[in-house]
Amino acid sequence: MTILVINGPNLNLLESRDPEHYGGNSLENIAELLKKKFPSINFIFEQFNNEDEIVNSIHKSTNYDGLIINPAAFTHYSISIRDALEICKLPKVEVHLSNITNREKFRNINITSSRCDGLISGFKDYSYVLAVHYLIELLSTVKSSS
Ligand code: DQA
Repeated sequence: MTILVINGPNLNLLESRDPEHYGGNSLENIAELLKKKFPSINFIFEQFNNEDEIVNSIHKSTNYDGLIINPAAFTHYSISIRDALEICKLPKVEVHLSNITNREKFRNINITSSRCDGLISGFKDYSYVLAVHYLIELLSTVKSSS
């Protein structure tokens, strides 16, 4: 099973951002955590600061089994990422480290998550872990029923 994990802008500097919201770990730490917790899964872990690179990566994702995306600030205004997610037929989970519903008002606007199967927000690094659990559950159900 191969899962693509796309991370949006400023997540490359996660360890320098407010630990109360983001947990204080780096994105590399999160990638390591996933590898350690799910050794049988192949993770393709990406981070982009540009919207077009995220759109291109979603377009190229067709051969993977599932997609986890943290669009970061693009969550709140990117119609092009939303449209790319709508085109993409993979099982998809949107994740956020922080709880975007109890922060600034503008973070309550979420353009992208309605094009995903669901949204996991507020569990810091574990938002990613929970998203992987969902995809494993979903993909094993699909396999055993086919
Ligand atoms: C974030 C939440 C966004 O509002 C913010 O712009 C980010 C990170 C999160 O993971 O909590 O960059 O996506």
